[in-house]
Amino acid sequence: FEIVVLVSGFGSNLQALIDAAKAHPDQYRIKAVICNRPQAYALERARQANIPYFTICAAAGQTRESYDQQLNQQLETLQPDLIVMAGFMRILSAGFTEKWQHKLINIHPSLLPKYPGLNTHQRALDARDAIHGISIHYVNAEVDGGPVIAQAQLEIKSQDSAETLAQRIHELEHQLLPAVVLAIATKKIHYNLAHHQVTFLGD
Ligand code: GRF
Repeated sequence: FEIVVLVSGFGSNLQALIDAAKAHPDQYRIKAVICNRPQAYALERARQANIPYFTICAAAGQTRESYDQQLNQQLETLQPDLIVMAGFMRILSAGFTEKWQHKLINIHPSLLPKYPGLNTHQRALDARDAIHGISIHYVNAEVDGGPVIAQAQLEIKSQDSAETLAQRIHELEHQLLPAVVLAIATKKIHYNLAHHQVTFLGD
């Protein structure tokens, strides 16, 4: 089972996936990393792990469709079983998500449907929420809107700031993302596209 990981930044979730792949070499392999920012530390992680990586930068004035076409071409070549958006900070066009929706997942730092988009930690604090968390979901044309596969949550403490939440949220992400990828790789998760329904299958 081969995955491609899409990243834009620090790549700590990519690292969690690299470590889990090393621990379970028979379950999944990271075939390549694709990044839209040439200076992203995530690329250094890929290099150190001997994983092929590709940088696809948006040219000035390039349309979303044209960028996504480039991304699509690279994925066509790689033919992954699963594409994992792990901090990939681009919105994908409807044509792209429709084509790959059966094998495209994203990690988002909120308990969806709450707080799609950016600044989720501050928004949870501003709303005086008691709990906050993360979601892993299949991707469709709606930003952070596809069917949720799994969530994990934490309690917001009175002394929490966006920074302390971000740190604890990352810890949750590093656990749940590899677990979901492993579950998909071992066919414990079934996605019925027609009904937008995610089902968990027993052993
Ligand atoms: C994560 O918090 C993820 O939920 C969000 O972007 C962040 C990426 O962090 N979409 P990293 O690059 O994996 O460290």
